[in-house]
Amino acid sequence: MTGETLPKAGKRLFIKTYGCQMNVYDSERMADILRPLGYGMTDAPEDADLVVLNTCHIREKAAEKVYSELGRIKEMRAARTEAGGARMGVVVAGCVAQAEGEEIMRRAPVVDLVVGPQAYHKLPELIARTTRALGERLSADFAPEAKFDALPIARQVDGVTAFLTVQEGCDKFCTFCVVPYTRGGEYSRPTADIEAEARGLAAQGVREVTLLGQNVNAYSGGPDGLAGLARRLAAIEGLDRIRYTTSHPRDMDEALIAAHGELEALMPYLHLPVQSGSDKILRAMNRDHTAATYLKLIERIRAARPDMALSCDFIVGFPGETEADFQDTLNLIEEVNFASAFSFKYSRRPGTPASAMPGQVAEEVKDERLARLNALLDAQRMAFNASQVGRTLNVLFERPGRYPGQILGRSPYLQAVHVDGPERLIGQIAPVRVTQGNMNSLTGDLILEDPRSSRPKAGSAKKVLA
Ligand code: 5AD
Ligand code: SF4
Repeated sequence: MTGETLPKAGKRLFIKTYGCQMNVYDSERMADILRPLGYGMTDAPEDADLVVLNTCHIREKAAEKVYSELGRIKEMRAARTEAGGARMGVVVAGCVAQAEGEEIMRRAPVVDLVVGPQAYHKLPELIARTTRALGERLSADFAPEAKFDALPIARQVDGVTAFLTVQEGCDKFCTFCVVPYTRGGEYSRPTADIEAEARGLAAQGVREVTLLGQNVNAYSGGPDGLAGLARRLAAIEGLDRIRYTTSHPRDMDEALIAAHGELEALMPYLHLPVQSGSDKILRAMNRDHTAATYLKLIERIRAARPDMALSCDFIVGFPGETEADFQDTLNLIEEVNFASAFSFKYSRRPGTPASAMPGQVAEEVKDERLARLNALLDAQRMAFNASQVGRTLNVLFERPGRYPGQILGRSPYLQAVHVDGPERLIGQIAPVRVTQGNMNSLTGDLILEDPRSSRPKAGSAKKVLA
């Protein structure tokens, strides 16, 4: 940075993030890029000098939210101008920007700048240009490589967990999905760059990283793929936990499965979407695997790591899905037993092959199937959480809980865990005896090490009742 770009104090930036964790990462990076221009974060959009909506295009509802938010922003900006305030800049970033840039400019004149997920490293330059010539827009056709090279390695984080994007884009072309169009082809960042970023995070007190990629287990930026990367990161002092998401069943290779059995830092929780349990639907989705090969894969993963908790994505009402196909999905779920899951009604996305397929399923049928699917998935989640009662789990404490004296952390299986305990444990991993398994969290007691005897002992009186 040169002297000329040093911060002008006091400009406020509001970023609203929609969609996946990769957008969360991108939003943080946008804040990093804009900080040297003098932008500090605010939680109040009405006070912001610059509002960024980092958008998601995956389902229709997600995309439509942007336009209603822009309506609110238009009013905020008008109120501010009326009150004599400085002009509020409005940026639409992310996947809707990429897919519908021109439509956004047409539908929402309040927007100054549209910038796709591969071009946000250009924000400082773009903002400078738009403040000179309003209404200018830059298209987002840049290689991801250029973006990552342009981003400052130094990130500012204040938590004990962090996201780290290692791979972007997708070459799989599932017939329902916009990602290959909005995020482009698969690109993996070089291992050395990721290691440098991870070291920087660890130096700021981050104990757990979640490696992000649309097809994270297709990572190919270094030897031995994602398994090799996980090994390198596990060796970083202070970095005790590694997670990754989202994976494709086709890319779950031997090395990665084996790494789950060998690397203590690799957490026993895997998000491995299957989308459907029907071979006919899987074929129409272009998933390139069957229900049986998915089940076989789960068996191999569990052989390497018997306590692996599994998470999944499901789509109901894909074109051509019959009651029997849906039943196949329920059967697959019964077989796997998921610790958690996300389920969606099929949403017709313009430009994707499935949107033009015959046999589109009626909305009421989708609703009804979704309800049955969720009932089963909720029961499995509840059973998984309940099965932890009496076990001792290592919990990484992240922040104070909602009630005084309470702290909140995560189990290895990504469950939220509440305990009564001191705030000094935030940033530490400590054993907890689980006393209660709820739908969305666990409750437990700290097992504090007695420094004299170094024998574990009960942390609170509640343990006696457990
Ligand atoms: N309709 C419904 N769900 C979708 N997903 C992706 N595209 C669609 C769509 N068109 C879901 C998939 C994917 C998750 C991120 O979003 O389940 O795994
Ligand atoms: Fe979309 Fe399929 Fe690629 Fe996942 S693997 S991002 S669902 S196209």
